[in-house]
Amino acid sequence: MSNFNELIADNNLLECAVVDPAFEVDRLLREAKTRGWKITTILVTHTHHDHIDGVADMVKATGARVYVGAGEVETLKRAAPMADIVGLEGGEEIAIGGLTIEALPTPGHTVAGTSYIVEGNVFTGDTLFIGGCGRTDFPGGDAPTLWRSLQRLAALPEETRVYPGHDYGQTPTSTIGWEKSANPYLLCKSEEEFVALRTGKNAPRPQKRAK
Ligand SMILES: [Fe+2]
Repeated sequence: MSNFNELIADNNLLECAVVDPAFEVDRLLREAKTRGWKITTILVTHTHHDHIDGVADMVKATGARVYVGAGEVETLKRAAPMADIVGLEGGEEIAIGGLTIEALPTPGHTVAGTSYIVEGNVFTGDTLFIGGCGRTDFPGGDAPTLWRSLQRLAALPEETRVYPGHDYGQTPTSTIGWEKSANPYLLCKSEEEFVALRTGKNAPRPQKRAK
């Protein structure tokens, strides 16, 4: 499903967070171990299964604390009953070693989608893709809400690097500035225009690069 998993580490204090562990948990553990990083934190952008299926195994292996938007705590509890889960309302700061990660509410693809900002990078889950955005036709999805979330992301500094939840675009990452200049959903001039585009029959899909 072309999911990305990211490890965010303080390379001095050797602490690390993992974003949306769903597949290949053993590989994520190995990659962290190779670098001497201790996984203390799991950041969940939203609770679709392809973003959380590895949370229970990751918690079992590391005891990491899990963060997710408050409105999706119950869903996550069902998938990972033993996890120490913290519900986020937005604006919280999460420490990973000496790094500070800020939670930014970005609902619309799901009811309590959350993006995570750290040192000029933003992890956007399925809210913003390279050249695209998340669907709004799953339960909890809502196009006007997604529009407002995308505006919140577009307000970040232009040089902010975007790390989406899936490898759907021409490049694995981009910047907020590039998305504002080229992403058809961010080029919309109004909520009405966006909702019509997102929910229309011919909603643009990101153009995947040739492998
Ligand atoms: Fe999703």
